[in-house]
Amino acid sequence: MTATAISHSSAAMIDVEGVSKAFGETKALVGVDLSVPAGSVQGLLGPNGAGKTTLVRILATLLAPDAGHARISGVNVQDDPDTVRSLIGLAGQYAAVDETLTGRENLVMIGRLYRLSRQVAKTRAQESLDRLGLLEAADRPVKTYSGGMRRRLDLGASLVGRPQVLILDEPTTGLDPRTRLDTWAFIRDLVADGTTVLLTTQYLEEADQLADHIVVIDRGKVIASGTSAELKSRLGSDLIEVEVSAGDLEPALAALTEVGCRKATVDTERSRITIPTCDAVADLMAALRYLDHAGITPRDLGLRHPSLDDVFLSLTGRNTADEDPEPASITGRRTRGPAASRP
Ligand SMILES: Nc1ncnc2c1ncn2[C@@H]1O[C@H](COP(=O)(O)OP(=O)(O)OP(=O)(O)O)[C@@H](O)[C@H]1O
Ligand SMILES: [Mg+2]
Repeated sequence: MTATAISHSSAAMIDVEGVSKAFGETKALVGVDLSVPAGSVQGLLGPNGAGKTTLVRILATLLAPDAGHARISGVNVQDDPDTVRSLIGLAGQYAAVDETLTGRENLVMIGRLYRLSRQVAKTRAQESLDRLGLLEAADRPVKTYSGGMRRRLDLGASLVGRPQVLILDEPTTGLDPRTRLDTWAFIRDLVADGTTVLLTTQYLEEADQLADHIVVIDRGKVIASGTSAELKSRLGSDLIEVEVSAGDLEPALAALTEVGCRKATVDTERSRITIPTCDAVADLMAALRYLDHAGITPRDLGLRHPSLDDVFLSLTGRNTADEDPEPASITGRRTRGPAASRP
């Protein structure tokens, strides 16, 4: 967005090194590393309680880490929080706007906090309101806004200071699909202008759409990182999806343990088993043989390409047959049993 941002294009704009943070017994972050090049979008993906907001608050100088360092554009967040605040814009997970003021008044006030002149603050407020489709509601008190409008206003507030680095904590949670698409387009525009974005999300599609690079955290630790395509390719080629009647789920799972090259994930509600393959056709045929051998006729059986959701399920262990997550299984392939042992 600015000349400064462009001059930093090869260096890390956000740099996190061995950051840890505990709240009493809860280890919210454990030795997290992260490096985000200028002008790119970093997705930070993780389930509830993974530590996403904790990392956001450390980067935004709102919370001190117990160990490690975090830098924005080379500036240590603890040594020089004022400079860091002048470089970043933050749209938090919970809207931080004043209910009694109008949308416009909120943005002008934030501009004044950035020490902009009244005139510049007004111009910036107008730009933000326009960009986020809030002009019509600009002069109404925020307490009359819908949830989606508040989130958009919060996003607008993060832009008033024209930040080089934008930190967005679940920017589209609670938005309807249309507004979510608008928000994505808006974030893409900012990135095209040179803004560096750190985006936390629980929506895999959002990370898939926006992020150049994704870090997955769970229980405060980085458990995987890469581009969306890299993360998906770690699951092997395609996935076998088997749907059986509810009563057949356990026996089918037992029958299919030797199929594929990694642990299956199970959707108990739909009685559906998803198995990452190494050799899709051979594995599909093996699945049929094993099921037939066990006397189980599936309701549905097929192959499909992996989505980021599959990666997430596999990584975090949520929804799997085995409750204990096994992050190592994503990087190291499970060795297959000898072919001779197959029926
Ligand atoms: N101020 C605090 N005091 C005590 N525990 C906290 C505090 N802030 C966070 N935690 C705990 O730290 C862990 C990480 O929380 P955090 O809010 O960073 O997760 P998150 O990934 O943002 O989750 P969500 O997706 O629900 O927003 C959780 O177990 C949470 O309960
Ligand atoms: Mg959070």
